[in-house]
Amino acid sequence: MPSVTGIIGGSGFYTMSGETESVVSTVQTPFSEYPVLIYRSMVGECPVVFLPRHGSEHGIPPHRVNYRANLWAIQQSGATAILAVNVVGGIREGLDPGILLVPDQIIDYTSNRDHTFFDVLDGVDNHIDFTWPYNENLRKALLAASDELGVACNDGGVYGCTQGPRLETAAEIRRMQADGCDIVGMTGMPEAALARELGIAYACIALVVNRAAGLTEDVISFADIATTLDRGIETIRRLLQAALPKLP
Ligand code: HPA
Repeated sequence: MPSVTGIIGGSGFYTMSGETESVVSTVQTPFSEYPVLIYRSMVGECPVVFLPRHGSEHGIPPHRVNYRANLWAIQQSGATAILAVNVVGGIREGLDPGILLVPDQIIDYTSNRDHTFFDVLDGVDNHIDFTWPYNENLRKALLAASDELGVACNDGGVYGCTQGPRLETAAEIRRMQADGCDIVGMTGMPEAALARELGIAYACIALVVNRAAGLTEDVISFADIATTLDRGIETIRRLLQAALPKLP
């Protein structure tokens, strides 16, 4: 029996299609009075627990997501690996709307998020190594799936995670560019670090939906983002379905 994989859906990705026997379960966690809703299903032979990060109807903005409750619930559901879907702006030249990328690094620009399970110093080892924030085997599975489907997907890149919910200023993006960021989004952290704290392998597939602030003549169009999102999410669904059987 293959082990359970967690899939965290981002903006525009609220159900895991191609599923059979999708069952909602509620998981109570120490981090909220409300339970987390998790959708269990089989994707082919692979058991999956799906969690829409922003809620099933996008009610929760990035800075209000209860990342600790989500990660805890996914672990309680038996997952040992997580594939996360994130929607981002493109900073590096060529990262235009519609492009996919599997990042290999993160810079965290968020603030005031509950970002650790280790905020009580109780004598246990409460530091994690985070040199390489994403699991290489999972990254490879995503890239192999994109090859198999003939879908272009960039291997590696630095995800700069901002606090949101507003988009960035042009000067902030120039600073992030100088820092080495290739993409910018609002949900990559603390999710990746919390997964590492729990010992869950974690990787991200990022969909570029706009050029980041100040990199084009125009202001950012939310209508254009919605169109790109609709098209891109379908591709990501297929890619995840192809990646699941390749997971170690
Ligand atoms: N900035 C931050 N988050 C985002 C963006 C962006 O330009 N596009 C999609 N998510």
